[in-house]
Amino acid sequence: MVAQKMYELGTKRSGIREIFEFAMKRSAEVGPENVYDFSLGNPNVPSPEYIKEAIIDLITNMPATAVHSYTVAPGAMEVRETLARSINERFGMNITGNNLFMTSGAAAAITITFKALTEEDDEIIAFAPYFPEYKVFVENVGSKLVVVPAKVDDFQIDFEAFRAVINPHTKAVIVNSPNNPSGVIYSEETIKELAAILTEKSKEYGHPIFIIADEPYREIAYDGLEVPYIPKFYSNTIVCYSYSKSFSLPGERIGYIVVPNEVEDFGAVYGAVAGAARVLTHVNASSLFQLVVARCAGKPSDISQYEKNGKLLYDGLTAAGIKCLKPQGAFYLFPQALEEDDVAFCEKAKKYDLLFVPGSGFGCPGFVRLAYCVSEETIRRSLPVLKKFAKEEYGIEC
Ligand SMILES: Cc1ncc(COP(=O)(O)O)c(C=O)c1O
Repeated sequence: MVAQKMYELGTKRSGIREIFEFAMKRSAEVGPENVYDFSLGNPNVPSPEYIKEAIIDLITNMPATAVHSYTVAPGAMEVRETLARSINERFGMNITGNNLFMTSGAAAAITITFKALTEEDDEIIAFAPYFPEYKVFVENVGSKLVVVPAKVDDFQIDFEAFRAVINPHTKAVIVNSPNNPSGVIYSEETIKELAAILTEKSKEYGHPIFIIADEPYREIAYDGLEVPYIPKFYSNTIVCYSYSKSFSLPGERIGYIVVPNEVEDFGAVYGAVAGAARVLTHVNASSLFQLVVARCAGKPSDISQYEKNGKLLYDGLTAAGIKCLKPQGAFYLFPQALEEDDVAFCEKAKKYDLLFVPGSGFGCPGFVRLAYCVSEETIRRSLPVLKKFAKEEYGIEC
């Protein structure tokens, strides 16, 4: 009677949802201050004051029809021109509004790009650990997601494993840096090597293999670390950007796709992006928030609380004997579980009201994700509990 696949997607309880419900239940039982919920990637830093000021100014001083009307499908041209100038200034690009397509966040940008690029039998490669929704997005457009196993010593890319899976059906690779869930930034060296292999293989197979750069965490990078702007290293790159994290606007659904002129057959790719958006029922991205982000283009994001939280939690995990890479960006840590079975590890942690997400869902068993976009107080209170958990469950004395 209904599409079975859609029914399954709509009713299968996600692991993160289950953890969320458990957190609600435990908060009612023991008080929210005693539940250490590291499961959700929902920014806890409020959106900056300049966003609020822009919204108030726009809705007060612009005619309502100008603020709330439909825009052309790619987004208002003045908005795209403003964002293009900001991108050019920041990354030394040379794009115009004609290279931008405004979307309802990164999820829409990625799905539209997958749909625009792939046909039946095409494959998209992701590098573990990877954002689990990629699988849903890829399958939705009728293609196949191929996963390269993680390089767990540094969470850069395992190029040998990559070479083993790339094949003539590969249409694109999706790269997410700063990464959810590992918190790692792909180095310039990694991006250069990826670009070299893709150039070689595109030539060998006689068609371009695109990089899709999924960049919602671009601005959340610590210790002055640079996040390489991938179109500068590989011309067949399409960027999917979102303001969900940088401006803490996840509920407003605003982002964009960049298709630079250097992309092979630019006109066909941009046209296919517009067509894919159309069949996916995109009419236009929020007209108010197009104007808001154009007003605030290039303004700094305050990442100081995330940086502080990341360091605090990293020190706490390490002190409890749980191994972890130092936070580089985004707001996640991805430590190694204290046993092989990451799901069992998370279940044991739950007994201490420590809520983590198993790495298996990110294609990386044996690890767990902790989102530290929570209050600093939650992290501070969790530190002795982490130690108690490691000691009582795994006999680790620190
Ligand atoms: C890696 C990654 N890509 C894409 C998204 C989707 O972001 P948006 O809210 O812009 O749709 C997320 C959201 O958490 C993410 O972590």
